[in-house]
Amino acid sequence: MNLNHARLPIPPRTRTAERNQHPALLANKFDFLFAKFVAQLPQIMNILITAGPTREPLDPVRYLTNRSSGKMGYALAAAAAKRGHSVLLISGPTHLELPSGVDFLPVETARDMHQAVSSQINRFDIAILAAAVADYCPATYSTEKIKKNDAEFSVQFVKTKDILAEARSVMNFQGTLVGFAAESQNLETNARKKCLNKQCDLIIANDISRSDIGFDSSENEVLLVYPDRSEPLPKDTKEHLAFHLIEIIEDLQS
Ligand code: CTP
Repeated sequence: MNLNHARLPIPPRTRTAERNQHPALLANKFDFLFAKFVAQLPQIMNILITAGPTREPLDPVRYLTNRSSGKMGYALAAAAAKRGHSVLLISGPTHLELPSGVDFLPVETARDMHQAVSSQINRFDIAILAAAVADYCPATYSTEKIKKNDAEFSVQFVKTKDILAEARSVMNFQGTLVGFAAESQNLETNARKKCLNKQCDLIIANDISRSDIGFDSSENEVLLVYPDRSEPLPKDTKEHLAFHLIEIIEDLQS
């Protein structure tokens, strides 16, 4: 764009149609539209997203997992990439197609996901931790298939690391931190506790007692829980909701 055009003098007595064609005015109009277009573009950011369940193996054929489909996290990754951001998706096992334009780091266990996030997170402006990470994993892993016998069988579980809680306190992440909360009761109170305890800028809270939204559904209805206020969003497809959420998170960052 040649900005020098903008300085051409406007001839004093041209008629309106002619005046509108004058290079100085055309360039001004173009500059104005271009500036307006650029102002509407989101600032390009590096966004880390976790998604899906984790799998905690007991032996070569058995594992503990949960009902997360990964749809919300993948929809967020797709929306963020479509808005021009640079996205890394760290995901547990799902049946979903990888959104285009997204870097991908597949993981299996909570431990793998913790390692992947802690080695990557400080390269990012925004971290959206949407994965349904197992809170406990079997204390021991049997390399041989566990054979059944006549006795009852019990498994001892140990706690996994809370990745979201460690983002600030251990990994020293300084960017915008967004988590999710899956709650079956006291949605707002429990989500706010998570928001404050895990030092998040925003918690996206899901009521998992409802069968029409959340886990494995293609729709979701969430409550946005900030440290000092809350805001409900209307029920929507996970794809539409993801675009809206990315815009909201962009505003938190800027
Ligand atoms: N989370 C995490 N690492 C874990 C457990 C949870 O990063 N080991 C993150 C999730 O990705 C989510 C948030 O913490 O962003 C809340 O997860 P949720 O399962 O709702 O809550 P928990 O903290 O695990 O607590 P509880 O299961 O008791 O509700």
